[in-house]
Amino acid sequence: MHTLFASYEPEAHGIPLPDAVVRPGSAQDAEQTGRLAAYREGEPTERWVGIHHRKVSNEDNCLVVAELDGRVVGFGWASYLRPVESGGHGAPDGWYLSGVVVDESVRRRGLGLRLTQQRIDCILSHADEVYYVVAASNRASRDLHAALGFEEVTRDFALPGVVFGAGDGILCRLRRRPDADVVDLDTRR
Ligand SMILES: CC(C)(COP(=O)(O)OP(=O)(O)OC[C@H]1O[C@@H](n2cnc3c(N)ncnc32)[C@H](O)[C@@H]1OP(=O)(O)O)[C@@H](O)C(=O)NCCC(=O)NCCS
Repeated sequence: MHTLFASYEPEAHGIPLPDAVVRPGSAQDAEQTGRLAAYREGEPTERWVGIHHRKVSNEDNCLVVAELDGRVVGFGWASYLRPVESGGHGAPDGWYLSGVVVDESVRRRGLGLRLTQQRIDCILSHADEVYYVVAASNRASRDLHAALGFEEVTRDFALPGVVFGAGDGILCRLRRRPDADVVDLDTRR
């Protein structure tokens, strides 16, 4: 059965999956990433394949996928969002991590972490900070992002197009360390 969030199990730890490859995604992956998203949302596959096709062809978005034995088993998006000009409040224009999903069969094997680290590295190669928003009730995601250095900024914000239950959204930020090496992995922005 699909659920939006993984159940929170802080005591469980999986064994890493070194054979899985985490790489930049492309339009050719949209079919499989759309399937994963549709399953998670409990919605028609065509709808999500279409969303991912449109998203990947827009240069404000960047896709990273995890592949195992030729099958896409996870994906993560990063997007340049403009909440300031589109009616939001409390959240700046900038690069946001905008969705990560790992197939239930390979969760807790380090793929969510790798998909997120790769997007962070990509964004911080050309920006000073990266944001993400999360439901307070999504404890698994909060622990994962906290482990990579994200810190809470505010719960008083609105990001057009992103809906949380009352007071449930948290805006988090990760800043580039001043002494970090800058590797230009992505020249898109
Ligand atoms: C959140 C999600 C992407 C994590 O993917 P994953 O590949 O299972 O995560 P990882 O194995 O890389 O976990 C890294 C760390 O995150 C934390 N974590 C991940 N899942 C967790 C869970 N279910 N319960 C508690 N902590 C969890 C742990 O600290 C974990 O390290 P550990 O396994 O050494 O304890 C996955 O559960 C998922 O697809 N959930 C549904 C979609 C979702 O909620 N996306 C995030 C929206 S903001």
